Amino acid sequence: MEKADGLLRMDTFAYRGKNYEVPIFDDNAPPIILKASASAISLPNTSPILRCINSIWNLKEFSCPRHPISLGILNTDELNAYTKPDAVRVLDMPIKMPDCDEYRLPRTFSQFTGVIQRIIDVEHRINPQHADYYAYLTIDQRWVKPGTLQREAPCHVDGFQGARWNPKCRINHTYTVSDVLPTAYYIQPFDFSLLDECIHDFFWEMNAQVADTNEVHRWQPQPAEITLMDCYTVHRGVENTSSSPVFRTWLRLSFEERRRVFDRLGNAHNPFFDYNWTMVDRDIEQLGLCAYRTTSDPSLRVFPWQDLSGNPLPPGVPKTKPQLRKTTDESVK
Ligand SMILES: [Fe+2]
Repeated sequence: MEKADGLLRMDTFAYRGKNYEVPIFDDNAPPIILKASASAISLPNTSPILRCINSIWNLKEFSCPRHPISLGILNTDELNAYTKPDAVRVLDMPIKMPDCDEYRLPRTFSQFTGVIQRIIDVEHRINPQHADYYAYLTIDQRWVKPGTLQREAPCHVDGFQGARWNPKCRINHTYTVSDVLPTAYYIQPFDFSLLDECIHDFFWEMNAQVADTNEVHRWQPQPAEITLMDCYTVHRGVENTSSSPVFRTWLRLSFEERRRVFDRLGNAHNPFFDYNWTMVDRDIEQLGLCAYRTTSDPSLRVFPWQDLSGNPLPPGVPKTKPQLRKTTDESVK
């Protein structure tokens, strides 16, 4: 692969059996600077996602089903740019800092400027306190093999505030778009009132409550549809059920309040802002959480890299998927 414009190199490293590739950007190549402009798109009058922007984390909000808000579908030109191959993979890199209204992008990401502009135009319209927020960019483009997901995970939310966040912060909200295999969302109430955030894995309980309903509340946006969700919007990637590999481009822009410093090893550094975070290795496995329901289907309460008994899968073996339906008939959608 030819080196992308504005990219110096990819650094690779590993911890606890996980491998990471982190792009190192050239701070001599001028960045792309974006600023929000007026957005005229129509937005819903009543959406719990809009109601809760800038509010403090409240577990009870899970009882209110969340339907992601549509920002529309990418037009042909936007989609042609968005899907260009050889996009550099990046994880949670800040492209906006608190108290700054500029979005600074390494040139490497020029193909995504149209999408990001659409997102920030809406963000600055719906969030009067945008000055208090970071915007973290994630891009993942790759072939998705038959029978796999691009990012294997349980049903989950982005921005869950577990025991580490005490006191609780303002919640995040997140824009995403996939050109193919759009994410599945579960538009149903969730009840975690009997769970303890110091003891229980809430994502496994999300698996269990989705499985209770046999996935009947599953909803997917259109391919190339930009959507907005918040930290109470339960979702999961979808499997490539075709017999051929699918080339997928996925983008996420997460808005997180100023206390939410994403200093996890593997996240990329943006050289166009002056900051120096000590990066730490942190993941959910370290917390030693357990399932609230100990008698549910075992696939609902193991990590994807574990077998049904909780033992690590050998390299190359397909990841464990949560059994969310009593039938495996994928035609039921
Ligand atoms: Fe997610």
